[in-house]
Amino acid sequence: MKTKYINLKEEYNEEKIKETAKEIVAGNLVIFPTETVYGIGANALNSEACKNIFKAKGRAGDNPLIVHVNNFDMIKQIIEEPNELEKKLLNTFCPGPFTIILKAKSIIPKSVTAGLDTVGIRMPSNKIANKLIEYAGVPIAAPSANVSGRPSGTKIEDILKEFDGKVSAIIDAGMVDIGLESTVVRVIDNKVRILRPGKITKENIEKLGIEVEIDKNILGKYDGKEKVLSPGMKYRHYAPNTKCMMVYSKNEDAMVNKINELITGKNALVVCRDKNFDKYDTKNKIKMGNSLEKMAHNIFSILRQVDKYDVDIVLIEGMEKDGLGLALNNRLLRACEYNYLEI
Ligand code: TXA
Ligand code: MG
Repeated sequence: MKTKYINLKEEYNEEKIKETAKEIVAGNLVIFPTETVYGIGANALNSEACKNIFKAKGRAGDNPLIVHVNNFDMIKQIIEEPNELEKKLLNTFCPGPFTIILKAKSIIPKSVTAGLDTVGIRMPSNKIANKLIEYAGVPIAAPSANVSGRPSGTKIEDILKEFDGKVSAIIDAGMVDIGLESTVVRVIDNKVRILRPGKITKENIEKLGIEVEIDKNILGKYDGKEKVLSPGMKYRHYAPNTKCMMVYSKNEDAMVNKINELITGKNALVVCRDKNFDKYDTKNKIKMGNSLEKMAHNIFSILRQVDKYDVDIVLIEGMEKDGLGLALNNRLLRACEYNYLEI
């Protein structure tokens, strides 16, 4: 299949988005930007089209897709009446980097929900994503644009390598804003359970006077025994082929010293804050930014780069576990396959 490449990097062009929306209506796959990561989307009401997303990604059939909408009426068409707490969350965090698991109406195909009776709803704030949904006139089911197990796609150069020739169109809007996928939540017993941390933090939700729980699989390793609330938690994710290890200490000097000790005599790569770059005794180093926001923005493309360095181990500086740090820890722990040292 020839993939149409739509360049909206330099300028926004509504006609081109309208044209691309026809691909969604025709039952084809389109890769499009959101504020979090790129999505690989299809008409969420078209079961066959959605099955093709699973094929293109090599995604396990029991891992449901989230459905993107651009207005509240569209939400009403696909879910049962939400309760008061769910409404409050929808009204506060939509549009934005936020996904809420709600009871699905039967209009949503089982291929989207992976047979569950719930569906993840997300209203992106990205203008191109919104216009694409508006012109398609249907909700768009879209997981992150990456082959299953790989880091989520945050820029087109990475995405083309995996999906050129496998989708009908790709809209290039340059590097995404946030860089980590949306926060996924579910309301259970009048509390909010975070199933996947993201830019909307535990602290942001607590500010509304709501009790928030962090699912134990977020920082812990899935033990294969219990049923998980979010099937995506079960799968290997984000891990480069090269072995990675995350090292953290609240005392920054101690962290830097420990990493220097660990790389001594090894062929290693260090992924570190810009301000610590000169402190490491190796030629193989990648800067990931200084703030949690910058690190979130860069981390997936960095995880894609590390295999290009011919090294035995990658040492990654860790970060605090609150705020956006929880989301970064969640992704990096998986990238490191839980190879983590805190001192
Ligand atoms: O930011 C994002 O959320 C991006 C952009 C494209 O919107 N999308 C994304 O989708 O990250 P995906 O499929 O890569 O991740 C969705 C996560 C998966 O871990 C999946 O298991 C979980 O949400 N999920 C989807 N539907 C669910 C449901 N009904 N119940 C529990 N978890 C669900
Ligand atoms: Mg994903």
